[in-house]
Amino acid sequence: MSERLMRGPLLHFLGEPDKDATAVDYQPDALLWIKNGLVHQMGNYASMAAKLTGTQLSKVEDCSRYLMVPGFVDCHIHYPQTEMIGAYGAQLLEWLNTYTFPVESTFNDPVKAAAVSKVFINQLLKNGTTTALVFCSVHPESVDALFTEAQKYNMRIIAGKVMMDRNAPQNVLDTAQSSYDQSKQLIERWHGVDRLQYAITPRFAPTSSDEQLKAAGRLLAEYEGVYMHTHLSENVDEIEWVKELFPKAKNYLDVYDQAGLLGKRSVFAHGLHLCQSECEQLAQTDSAIAHCPTSNLFIGSGLFPMKRLQNHGIKIGMGTDVGGGTSFNMLQTLADSYKMQQLKGNNLSPEQSFYLATLGGAKALDMDEKIGNFAIGKEADFLLLDPNATDLLKFRTSHCEGWRDLLFVLQTLGDDRVIAQTNVMGVSI
Ligand code: GUN
Ligand code: ZN
Repeated sequence: MSERLMRGPLLHFLGEPDKDATAVDYQPDALLWIKNGLVHQMGNYASMAAKLTGTQLSKVEDCSRYLMVPGFVDCHIHYPQTEMIGAYGAQLLEWLNTYTFPVESTFNDPVKAAAVSKVFINQLLKNGTTTALVFCSVHPESVDALFTEAQKYNMRIIAGKVMMDRNAPQNVLDTAQSSYDQSKQLIERWHGVDRLQYAITPRFAPTSSDEQLKAAGRLLAEYEGVYMHTHLSENVDEIEWVKELFPKAKNYLDVYDQAGLLGKRSVFAHGLHLCQSECEQLAQTDSAIAHCPTSNLFIGSGLFPMKRLQNHGIKIGMGTDVGGGTSFNMLQTLADSYKMQQLKGNNLSPEQSFYLATLGGAKALDMDEKIGNFAIGKEADFLLLDPNATDLLKFRTSHCEGWRDLLFVLQTLGDDRVIAQTNVMGVSI
């Protein structure tokens, strides 16, 4: 039996702060008691200390300098794009052809895929991301490499082989049949192994034939519990292209809907330019949107209509979208989301931001029964955030009044230096 006892300030969410003012649980002096990787108990230190033996009391770790929060959930990221993050000067379709496809074409090499997986998983953990929904490349080798690396840390990774059978260079294409067969093999090899899960991953409508999208839909129906992960309505030229390629579809989302790709384990990245009926259909099918602000700004795609989607009741999680996105760091991603929402007249609160990065992301991934907060029985994926991580933070946070102020300053000024410790199933990595 393994056990950890941590004492310090703690913050997590019991629900969505925008809807429920009592959803924020901040405890200035908490005890987090972990047994066998799960939250065994959590509550006010003084009232819980009485239950501890002398030996246990002597094992309590002093976290009074930190803030304990749940691990971050990244709902959309591309691991093969790690080496081209921050590439200059293009909007989506040109960016894909110039930078993305050439880099992704090299992931048929298992040695290369293993090397990049190492860097990628290390960056996730360093930045406090304990759960991620990840695009691999078209090559099955890329999926094996990523899952093998994630498994070493017992991480919650959902990933899949990209399916794409047209409108890209030959060396990143498969076919409807081969993508079906290879995805099936990968599902059988990896889905449900330790904390790993599989996502059927058609890249986006323009690079898949109707036949391939239907094959993806068949797979989704055949395997209970697997995910569907793709892009939706990111860029205006992309949307026009989808209209040309699928003239019979009512709208962009309808292309996926006709193939049976919507549902509670379906996650669509971006969703910037959705019409009313797309919003209604996302909500009705309990599908989720991954909001990727650093990417939307960097590749000039547009401003996310967060309030509008929330009003429709659509599940939203945060995505870094590396390498269209410019940071692995969730704090920086939240900072860009805040600035973007300012331009939309929406003052995104720090509690709503941190909710989206933790429990909101867990809900978007239909995983909130296992992760997302410190509820008893949940998997103990959590972080120690350091308010004194840099000289400026130390000075600025000394002027903070309360947890709300502190969260906002950490989000605005913070980066990977704030993540003092990342814990996966109760183990410090
Ligand atoms: N749409 C299709 N492929 C991609 C990709 O790799 N990144 C982004 N941001 N959008 C896409
Ligand atoms: Zn993406």
